[in-house]
Amino acid sequence: MHHFPLEPDRAMMTDMGGLVLERIIDRTEQLLTRPATNPLTPVVTADLVESFLSPPPARPGDLKTLLGRLDEAADCAMETAGPGHLAHIPGGGLFTAALAEFYNRAVNRYGGLAAIAPAFAALEESVVRWIARDVCGLPSVSGGLLTSGGSMATFSAVVAARHDRLGEDVATGTVYTTAFAHHSVAKAARLAGIKNDHIRLVPHTAGLRMDPEAATALIRADRQAGLRPFLLVGTAGSTDTGTIDPLPALASLARREDLWFHIDAAYGGFFRLTARGKERLAGFEHADSITLDPHKTLFMPFGTGALVVRDVAALHAAHGGTGNYLQDMGLAGDVPDSARLGPELTHEIRGLRAWLPLHLHGVDAFREALDEKLDLTEQIHADLSRVPELEVPQMPDLSTVIFRIRPADDSPPAANRADEATQRLLERVNAHRRIVLSSTVVAGRYTLRICIVSHRTHHDRITEARDLITAETAHIVANAVCG
Ligand SMILES: Cc1ncc(COP(=O)(O)O)c(C=O)c1O
Repeated sequence: MHHFPLEPDRAMMTDMGGLVLERIIDRTEQLLTRPATNPLTPVVTADLVESFLSPPPARPGDLKTLLGRLDEAADCAMETAGPGHLAHIPGGGLFTAALAEFYNRAVNRYGGLAAIAPAFAALEESVVRWIARDVCGLPSVSGGLLTSGGSMATFSAVVAARHDRLGEDVATGTVYTTAFAHHSVAKAARLAGIKNDHIRLVPHTAGLRMDPEAATALIRADRQAGLRPFLLVGTAGSTDTGTIDPLPALASLARREDLWFHIDAAYGGFFRLTARGKERLAGFEHADSITLDPHKTLFMPFGTGALVVRDVAALHAAHGGTGNYLQDMGLAGDVPDSARLGPELTHEIRGLRAWLPLHLHGVDAFREALDEKLDLTEQIHADLSRVPELEVPQMPDLSTVIFRIRPADDSPPAANRADEATQRLLERVNAHRRIVLSSTVVAGRYTLRICIVSHRTHHDRITEARDLITAETAHIVANAVCG
């Protein structure tokens, strides 16, 4: 019998699948004890990177050897899936989502047009509707699409807003956001053809929230100058500090000034599943569009974002398009074609990796995990606030705590010395390889941030984080005094 190497038989599929599964289970179990960062030197890393740049061979390789190489690559990377990852916005990657994705990739159904795989399109639409209506509280005509991430979601939101409010004439369109907005907002505006100097950074209040009065003043001044303000972007959980803009006030402002109101809730959105989050994230109901990232606060694997909109027709109007080769592709009832709501045509059934875990674990499991993150955040915020050598400048709105070494006095040189000490604190804390923190700049000061998002981060690791930070702060301050 002829053997087609690209089609392994049942025994081979079982062997190969078993090898991969075993390795993944080992790796997943080890996540709890592995270092939080990779231990490789720059030289080893450079050699490994170089070795991965080589082209594929003409002849077959060996799966076990190749998987070993993948492990080398995985170990030569920030451990983004582990419980100690408290840097940037962590994304844990649910095991059950990975299983869903294995199934998804193997059956390889077409995700762009509903008529080609109608039940899968409905499955995906159920995830979108759940996010739009149940999580965000948008009306029953709301909908949207799953994207590869928050940046793509915001891009489609800006394109829809531009199409709806400006039509073809985009030259005078202006956008309003803050310095604490994620850079994907300005990038989306530029990609959508908005001039760079028409992207306004509205001043913020002392609490790092957009100042609605300052926004109103800017909008009116721009309009007087002949520009066309069309889009207001609020942030629901800033990447720097986790701060939530005053969303109800921004919603009223957008309505008054006739602007499209978008909320970037890539990080914060799913906290609405919790009672505390829902209270702090009031105002979603009034948005025209909202970005959420299941690959952040729904613990999905990277490559899973979402855009939900009040009125799907606006998204469709901006992203519609077809070709003769699609003339026989009818609509599948109530279920929209995701390809007509965003820039992509062919893609996987993106909703499958969310649908399976949501149905398997139930929504309460996600709610409880997010509630746990809020508890952990309150705990470490309270603990660090009691360390006299640390400045903890604000109450966390969500699951991010910012802090830095307190300067000896109010003078600029003391602030500089404190900034340098804070940078050393980051290096020393991360060097233990039990947790990874990252930094940002707040009020011109070098500031550390702890962001608790992974479903694998629990009380023990946060207590350890607190002890490490406290001990290293004491060490740095003592050395500064002695030296
Ligand atoms: C608030 C916020 N918006 C947008 C993004 C961009 O999302 P993505 O990285 O999924 O494109 C991020 C990513 O960290 C974010 O924190």
